[in-house]
Amino acid sequence: MARRKLHTKLCDLLGIEYPIIQAGMGGFSDPPLVIAVSEAGGLGTLGGATYTPETLDAAIREIRKGTSKPFGIDLLLPESLQDYAGFSKQKLYEAIPQEYRDYEKELRRKFAVPEDYVTQREVALWTLEGTKAMIEVCLENSVPVLAAGLGRLGWTMTECRARGIKTIGIGANVKMAMKHVEDQVDVIVAQGYDAGGHTGTIGTLALVPQIVDAVKPTPVAAAGGIADGRGLVAALALGAEGVWCGSMFLLTPDVTFTEGQKDRIIAATERDAVITKGYTGKTARQLRNPMTESWDKGPLPPLGWPLHLLLTEHIIDYAFEHSDESEYDQILITPVSQATRLLNRRKPVKDIIDDVIEEAVRILDEGVPLKGSGDHVTRRWKLH
Ligand SMILES: Cc1cc2nc3c(=O)[nH]c(=O)nc-3n(C[C@H](O)[C@H](O)[C@H](O)COP(=O)(O)O)c2cc1C
Repeated sequence: MARRKLHTKLCDLLGIEYPIIQAGMGGFSDPPLVIAVSEAGGLGTLGGATYTPETLDAAIREIRKGTSKPFGIDLLLPESLQDYAGFSKQKLYEAIPQEYRDYEKELRRKFAVPEDYVTQREVALWTLEGTKAMIEVCLENSVPVLAAGLGRLGWTMTECRARGIKTIGIGANVKMAMKHVEDQVDVIVAQGYDAGGHTGTIGTLALVPQIVDAVKPTPVAAAGGIADGRGLVAALALGAEGVWCGSMFLLTPDVTFTEGQKDRIIAATERDAVITKGYTGKTARQLRNPMTESWDKGPLPPLGWPLHLLLTEHIIDYAFEHSDESEYDQILITPVSQATRLLNRRKPVKDIIDDVIEEAVRILDEGVPLKGSGDHVTRRWKLH
């Protein structure tokens, strides 16, 4: 079958075939997924949160070997990093109160993580300096797209413009979206409460049109609970130019997930994807598990970012390193949206994108069925 067309202004802006951006997912969207999505006509985005400047540089090379199409890098630039400017990782760790360190020891005993285990995984996101070095790598490599998963890109916009790098800012409310307008980013993601990963408090359906209206004429990509062609059409109807989707890709062979994580998503109901601060200290949606319960129902409220993640990283990393054993696999951090029942079987990236476009085009061609009358409300959609 000939490939269907669904083209919006966002496609022209980013140089992609379909208005589907695969969202940055730190620790889960690495070069294989980025390459697969970009090759399939969307925009693949590397989740930069688990990288160092050196590994990020290597990953960019790997992506460029795998595809000549545009791709993005997503970095976390939380404003709270400014509060810890000049802090080393050790100094940050010393800022964690003793009662939290004691509780972490208790959790190690509970989840059979050795008392003396220290993660060897280096990441740069802890410090402002490390984060700036990551941005420098993106600038030096003139990556096609740079996204700020948390925080703002304002201070690097001039350099991005000079290198032809397109920028994406993420907003979970109108106030944050307006900060991205002030920074003059190229695309704003309106990310609703339904989303997997770090998320805000406003539902996608209510949020998207409010951000679309507020940021006009900046193009908006809708995010949060969009997992099929119906979701894409809904996003377009709300005024978005495309979608920014993470959960949609979690059952593909190219995501950095264990098979156990995929099985648990397939088995999950929409009520199992809960909001918790238990892993990173920021509100994030993920599958409920014994680790989230230990914080959500535990004696201490989670610390803020980045201290909480600094506290929990050893348990998180030990679990990943031993995820072939089910007792550790079940405490893996598994972010996913509320659209869990739409994520019900493993599928290759290309099939996902083709099916979403196919379904969206069919709905747009046939129109919306009018209940009872057998008629359809149709309209010729001019997307571009
Ligand atoms: C597994 C997973 C990991 C995520 N990690 C990040 C991250 O590191 N940085 C970020 O900006 N957003 C992260 N997010 C949020 C996504 O960028 C995106 O906003 C979200 O997936 C959109 O909603 P959806 O999951 O309903 O598609 C993550 C989401 C998921 C599902």
